[in-house]
Amino acid sequence: MSGDGFSSEMYEDSSLDATARIVDPSGETDERTVEMALRPRRLSEFSGQSRVRDQLSLVLEAARRRGTPPDHVLLSGPPGLGKTTLAMLIGTELERPIRITSGPAIQHAGDLAAVLSSLTEGEVLFLDEIHRMSRSAEEMLYLAMEDFRVDVIVGKGPGATAIPLELAPFTVVGATTRAGLLPAPLRDRFGFTGHLDFYATDDLVAILHRSARLLDVAADPDGITEIARRSRGTPRIANRLLRRVRDWAQVHGRHVVDEAAAHAALALFDVDDRGLDRLDRAVLDALCRRFGGGPVGLSTLAVAVGEEADTVETVAEPFLVREGFMVRTPRGRAASALAWEHLGLTPPAGLDRQPALPLDTGEGRFGA
Ligand SMILES: Nc1ncnc2c1ncn2[C@@H]1O[C@H](COP(=O)(O)OP(=O)(O)O)[C@@H](O)[C@H]1O
Ligand SMILES: [Mg+2]
Repeated sequence: MSGDGFSSEMYEDSSLDATARIVDPSGETDERTVEMALRPRRLSEFSGQSRVRDQLSLVLEAARRRGTPPDHVLLSGPPGLGKTTLAMLIGTELERPIRITSGPAIQHAGDLAAVLSSLTEGEVLFLDEIHRMSRSAEEMLYLAMEDFRVDVIVGKGPGATAIPLELAPFTVVGATTRAGLLPAPLRDRFGFTGHLDFYATDDLVAILHRSARLLDVAADPDGITEIARRSRGTPRIANRLLRRVRDWAQVHGRHVVDEAAAHAALALFDVDDRGLDRLDRAVLDALCRRFGGGPVGLSTLAVAVGEEADTVETVAEPFLVREGFMVRTPRGRAASALAWEHLGLTPPAGLDRQPALPLDTGEGRFGA
């Protein structure tokens, strides 16, 4: 087993983080520290996503009354919408310890066996980026989730024996940006799946007021609303933009984060009026100017903007589709009339509006 199969530290995968692109010129404290400080401590402090929150709250309350661990929980959705936050809250609400690890950290089934066999009864196992676990670990995991048992293989070749090992009942909380990549048998073991969607501006306003209070930043309602409106529906981005606007206000001798400060700072960081950032615009620009509006395959598009296909698909695309800038067709990605107009271009005559495929359900996303 590799010693780093799990850790008790907060784990974040910043490689898929949309806003890692907004550089941090002030060199302030590690973002993770700030994020941890801003994480809601109770489910009741978690703004927005009311459907998922209410459903989860019911599942947890029922389990608590029965005195048994709740069903396994799968949380899916684009980066920065609160998957890790909700996972932590599940541990808190159940008053159970939480063990944190991630798909990429589990290279071998043995790594997983070591983690599983050390869980205490009712413990919560948070598996971030669960779609990136190895195949052999995946198989071990779904058997363990079902029967609370793992088969430890001892020896090699014809003499190898499987020794069954009983596990204490536990709850897996899996998080993924790509639910569609989970094999069906694994997905089926989750009794509750919560899909997180982009936040409404009002919810981001509430989140930003709370963050401003915690960070001791004076902000007026117009400033907050402007930041919320341009945060790509994503709390992580909202919190980050708040800190950039605060920086701008401080450096310019203003003591309040207001609308003017928000405008100036967001322009400086290339966040446009619709909240699109540089990568978003690069994607639209390539789609329209290089590929005549598409449709074009994901990997071709990714090469054109110099990014990993995975980044374009999990970070840029969900928001662009959701906001109607981009459509996913059976033949690839295409620009909508809105995208052309947003770039200040004239849409080609007769641009037919292709029906968009459902957003980030993970189904049928292997083509193109
Ligand atoms: N509903 C919410 N209410 C308040 N803050 C939130 C909410 N969702 C996310 N955040 C904040 O956004 C940041 C990113 O959330 P996180 O759970 O790490 O996202 P994910 O794991 O989905 O990438 C955290 O600092 C958290 O405080
Ligand atoms: Mg996370």
